[in-house]
Parts: sequence; structure tokens; C-alpha cells
Amino acid sequence: KRKMILDLDTGVDDALAIAYAVADPDVDLIGIVSSYGNNRMKTCAQNSLKLLELLGATDVPVFEGEAHSCTTDHFDPEQVSLDIHGQNGIGEVQLPDPKRSVEKESGVDFFIDAAHKYGKDLIIVPTGPMTNLAAAIKKDPSITKLIGNVTFMGGALTVEGNVSEAAEANIHQDPKAADEVLESDLPLTMVGLDVTLRTLLTKKETKKWRDLGTKAGKAYADITDYYIDAYYNMDIDKKGCAIHDPLSVGVAINPSFVSTISLYMKCVTDGPEAGRTVGNNARLHDPNPNVKVAVNVDKDLYLKVFMDQLTGLFKQ
Ligand code: BDR
Ligand code: CA
Repeated sequence: KRKMILDLDTGVDDALAIAYAVADPDVDLIGIVSSYGNNRMKTCAQNSLKLLELLGATDVPVFEGEAHSCTTDHFDPEQVSLDIHGQNGIGEVQLPDPKRSVEKESGVDFFIDAAHKYGKDLIIVPTGPMTNLAAAIKKDPSITKLIGNVTFMGGALTVEGNVSEAAEANIHQDPKAADEVLESDLPLTMVGLDVTLRTLLTKKETKKWRDLGTKAGKAYADITDYYIDAYYNMDIDKKGCAIHDPLSVGVAINPSFVSTISLYMKCVTDGPEAGRTVGNNARLHDPNPNVKVAVNVDKDLYLKVFMDQLTGLFKQ
């Protein structure tokens, strides 16, 4: 089993990533660090606690991370995120207040401690902005050589962004943090819109969860249907929703879900292109690319494993 930390801005597809990681027999989910993006960091942390309780995974600690990007002093959830993920981040589904609280230790310190404790066994999966990871590297630069892998959902190379033509939402929140992570020695795999937009979940699948008749099956079907409806109403996709964040969890454990190319990438940090992930011209001759970029996905295989794992979990 690989030790995994999720770094989430818990909205709908982050909620699906939690379920995927909890269900995966090859994952030992040692903690969730909270980020901001789909909602405020503290709301995202509470969402993670509520979902873990719903799934019976109350042994997974939740840590609070940074509340805003490294170049600003506040964060306001934009209306568009609230429209896509609901005002509460999880599709307006009301879950009971969690019995547990967040940990006292900060998410940034948890990253650092886990890197020293588990070394190459540790995989970090950020599915929100890179702010927490960049802060951890800044505090303890030695961790970049310790950690086994960082497989992040974010960026776009071969397709346009989703907040602007240039930028994908997670990277757009904190382009400077993303560039610092890319410029570090961390072993990186990028699972961006290039592959996540090719995955599709429809109401045919969510009906299977609802039909299980369990609390988790019903709640997850309702949460995901909100997202599918938002995709429909906002004309993003008329058939279903992309299953972005769980794909990065899947790829972290099963790299054969995607094909990758190794590149030296950077992130544009200023101007109208801020947040664009693109090849770094200054490093074209560098023999050591800094990131494996997923450019194609076996979407049928991924959807099958995704459905088997989540349906199995919601049945319990
Ligand atoms: C990413 O942005 C967030 O809204 C989603 O949760 C996902 O991580 C997709 O661009
Ligand atoms: Ca996310």
C-alpha cells in the first residue's frame, strides 16, 4: 500500500476523489490537507470531515492549509465555482455536522513531517491550488528529494483552459505557487484538462449509486447530479460531467490509465496568460524534464475501475 495525502478544495469532484482513495485497496490514505478554490479553505475542510464520516473513514485526519494564494491576502469564492459546485461546495447536499474537528497541526507541517517519515513511500495528490505544497517546500526545501511522487490535477497543455483560454482553475488560483512546484526537484505527474475533460460520468452511473439504497450512495448521487446539471446548464457538456480529481488519485496508483510525455514545463505567473502551463523554452536542452504530462487516457478502463471502487464502497 502507498501512503497518500490528498490536498483538496473539497467540491464535487474532490468529494469523488476522497471516495476513490478510501475505496482503493492499494491506498493508505494518511491525511487530507485543505485548500481553497471551490470554496473557502475552512468550508472545504469541513466538507472533507463530513464526507469521511459519511464513508465511515473517521480515522483519516484533516488538516487546514493556506486560506489564499501566496500573492494575495484573501480569497473570495467566485460565483462561477459556487454555481458549478453549489454554495456549500458539495452540490447543496446537507450532511450532518462532523463529530470530529480538524487537527491542530497545520497542513503545511503535516506535509513536511510525512515527507521525513515516509520518504519515497509517500504520494501527494493535490487537486486544488498548489499553495500548500509551495509553502511546505519553502519552509523545508529538503522534502523535494524525499517524497515519492506528486500527481496533481491541474493545468492544460494540449487543450484550452477552463477559466480562461490560457488557464485551468486550480493553477489559475495561484500561478506563482504552481511555478515554484514545477521549478522544484519534486517528481511530478500532471493530470490536466488534456485527459480529465475526456472522462465522462452520466446520470446512468449515479443512478446505480442511488439504487443501492444506502446513505452514502444516495448522498454521492445527489452531490454528483448537481455537478452534472451544472455542466448541462452552463453548456460545458450536455451528457455528463468530467471526473477530474479522482483521475489524479487513479493515475498516482495506476499510471497505465494515461500515456504521458516528459517535458520541462513552467507556469506563466503574470499578465493575461497567468496560469498557463507551457513548455519552458529556457530549458529545451535540459536532459532532465521536470514533469510527466498526461496527454491521453484509457477512459473506459478508468471509468470501470472508478465505478467498481465507488459502488463497492457505497454498498457497505
Ligand atoms: C479543477 O477545478 C476545480 O473546480 C475542480 O475541483 C478540479 O480540481 C478542474 O479544473
Ligand atoms: Ca478540486
